Amino acid sequence: MDLVIATKNRNKLEEIRQILAETGLKVMGTTDIQSLPDVVEDGLSFEENARKKALTIAKLTGRLTLADDSGLVVDALNGRPGVLSARYSGENATPAENNRKLLDELKDVPMKKRTARFVCVMALARPSGKVSVVEGRAEGIITSELRGGEGFGYDPLFLVPEKGKTFAEMAPAEKNRISHRAIALQKAAEVLGAVARQEKS
Ligand code: IMP
Repeated sequence: MDLVIATKNRNKLEEIRQILAETGLKVMGTTDIQSLPDVVEDGLSFEENARKKALTIAKLTGRLTLADDSGLVVDALNGRPGVLSARYSGENATPAENNRKLLDELKDVPMKKRTARFVCVMALARPSGKVSVVEGRAEGIITSELRGGEGFGYDPLFLVPEKGKTFAEMAPAEKNRISHRAIALQKAAEVLGAVARQEKS
């Protein structure tokens, strides 16, 4: 059975392909399929965006489709930047600008109140319209200065207390064991395994 991953990001696609290797599904990205539109992420929640992307592509391709949406949720900012994580300091914001804005908004907030989490929601849509949703979370604290050179986005500000390191101070393999995306993907793999078994029987 084919599975479309609603992403144009090659790294995400490869990571997903590896984790799903044992399901026997044939995994393809949206760039492998001609003339698919970009789905606008205008939802108010990660789930809304993930569902919209998965359903749109599943209907257009007639194939099982997995889509994700993720971002950073900061408690002291009432959940911001949330679904606006990529565009926190403006439409074409760079990660450096977003990190600067986050530090600025938290400048008067003491360490113990700087709790935050990365959230990743994955939606699996069948062409029939049935959707399953799973979620992964990684808990942490927003540091007061940038630390580390690995990763991307908010990684240099996201401290994982049990490890004493930010995501950007971890080797990619270490982050990929505990990240919100890895946790969501493990859960999605379980759902997909069940769907693949059902198809075979
Ligand atoms: P996307 O939904 O995976 O494209 O992520 C949206 C935005 O959330 C990214 O542009 C980043 O700003 C932020 N983000 C999501 N996951 C991570 C992560 O693992 N590290 C750092 N930033 C992330």
